[in-house]
Formats: sequence, structure tokens, C-alpha cells
Amino acid sequence: MAQIYAISDLHVDYAENLQFVRDMPEQKDDYLILAGDVTDNQKIFTEVLQILANKYLKVFFVPGNHDVWIRSSECAYNNSVEKLERVLKICKMCNVSTEPEKVKLSENEYVNIVPIYSWYSTPEDDNRNSLYVRAKTRRDDDDKHLWMDNHLTKWPDFKDARSVSEFFYKMNDKTLKAAYDDAPVISFSHFLPRRDLIRMTTNEEDLWRMHGRQPNTDYKPTPFNFTRYAGCRRIEDAIRKLKSVVHIYGHQHRNRDRVINGIRYVSHCLGNPKERENGLVWGVDNNAKCVWPF
Ligand SMILES: [Fe+2]
Ligand SMILES: [Fe+2]
Repeated sequence: MAQIYAISDLHVDYAENLQFVRDMPEQKDDYLILAGDVTDNQKIFTEVLQILANKYLKVFFVPGNHDVWIRSSECAYNNSVEKLERVLKICKMCNVSTEPEKVKLSENEYVNIVPIYSWYSTPEDDNRNSLYVRAKTRRDDDDKHLWMDNHLTKWPDFKDARSVSEFFYKMNDKTLKAAYDDAPVISFSHFLPRRDLIRMTTNEEDLWRMHGRQPNTDYKPTPFNFTRYAGCRRIEDAIRKLKSVVHIYGHQHRNRDRVINGIRYVSHCLGNPKERENGLVWGVDNNAKCVWPF
């Protein structure tokens, strides 16, 4: 029986991460969900998609924030929507799917793999859908300059959307109108659908200590309020509409596997070498994570 694997945040600009991808085992009978943040470098992006498309029966992808960054040296794109369009074209070229698809697992078993396009809602542009939690200090209002999207993404004036997150969500219109009653739904997005996934539960903390590399308490990443850029409640609306049984996401570089109200939420980010070295990202070993069957 074919299995479904998931991974995100490959960030292959790090040589070690690119090597990780090259070393991933070949699984010609299985499917891979790749939940965004591969790289903004389209040459390496293409190479990585080709490598993965050759290892798996089929790869499914949604873009993350890093995939639509525009460096000052790049003049091919006026804005990140143009880059997004190019990213989707590269996917097509590499035979990587960015659309919902019913896939066969065995003679009688199928699942629907459904991408949800998304962007985070900040409290400024869409407070109702934002996952933002005010920090105890006023630092988080001061540190917007630390968030690289604020420097490396450019957006046009949207005609039909009041925010970037609404623009991305509207890309799901057709997907959300379709019916998926014929097989279980596994959906995936790059960004977080719920605020409660941001923090670890006590159980996860215990697991982290038992199985993970012990967190290095001397390592202090830049203090930063991630919740402003974490995700969007609209993703959760989509998950409920689709009646997903499993939802895969990425972006937070702190992995989760948790059931909430009957839906299993899985985040399996590779993250960056420093985060792995210091025990912040753990449990990735040498492969994507099997999420179906479970
Ligand atoms: Fe990431
Ligand atoms: Fe991200």
C-alpha cells in the first residue's frame, strides 16, 4: 500500500539542507507533501523539485513566504505575485502538483490531497483572522524590521483583496467549492491554521526532552514575536469546509503532531542547521514523516 509522507521548510540555501534532500531515500511507491519554504533561488528550487519528483511517485507543493522573496539582484519580477506565478510554472514543469488530487493507495483505497494557499494575517491588516498574541513587553511592536518578509516581499495593489492573506485565500475558491466525499481528505498549507499550535503542550515538551536532542539553554535566538507572522484563521475555516482528517503545515520550525477536535495537525519542518543543532527542531532524522496511514 502506498504511503503519504510530509515535510516542509527545506531551506536548501543551507548546503547541509540541500544534502539532506539529496540523501532522502527513494520511495517510488509513495507520495510526498512539501509544505513550502524551499528557497527563493529558482535554479536550486527547480533542482530540488526535480530530485524529489524522481524519488517519489508524486510530489504536492504549496509555496511558503521564502519561495516568493525577491532579492535586490533579481529584476525579472515586479512583485511577489509575479514570482509566485513563476514558482507555480516551475512546479508544472517538474511534474509537481499544486492542485487537489485523488490519489490511489491500494486497490480500494484512495485519499484526496488538497493544497490550501495561504499567507499570514497580521493584526494590522486583518486582526480578525490573525493569530497574533500581544507580547508582555513592547518589543514585538519594535521588531518588525527583523522579519525578512518586510524587506523581501513586494505586493501589487490588489483589486479584489484587502490583504495579502485574503489574496492567497481567494486562490482556493475553486478548491473549496469542490466535493471530496469519496475519500478522506489530507489538506496542507505553509502557514499555521490555529493559534494553539504555536506553543508546545506539556506532553510535547516531555516528548521533546525524551527523544529530542536536549535543547541548548545557552542558545538564545533573537527575541521576536513570531505570532504576528504565524498564520491565518481562514486556513482553519478551509480545513473544516474540506472535512480534512489530517492537516499538514510548516513555517514555525517547531514540529507538532497533535489531534484537535478530531483533526490531526502535523508540522515536520527541516528548519535551519542552527535550530537543529540547538535542539529547537528535532525528530526529522533523515526523512520526511509518514502521515498516512496512521
Ligand atoms: Fe521556514
Ligand atoms: Fe515560512
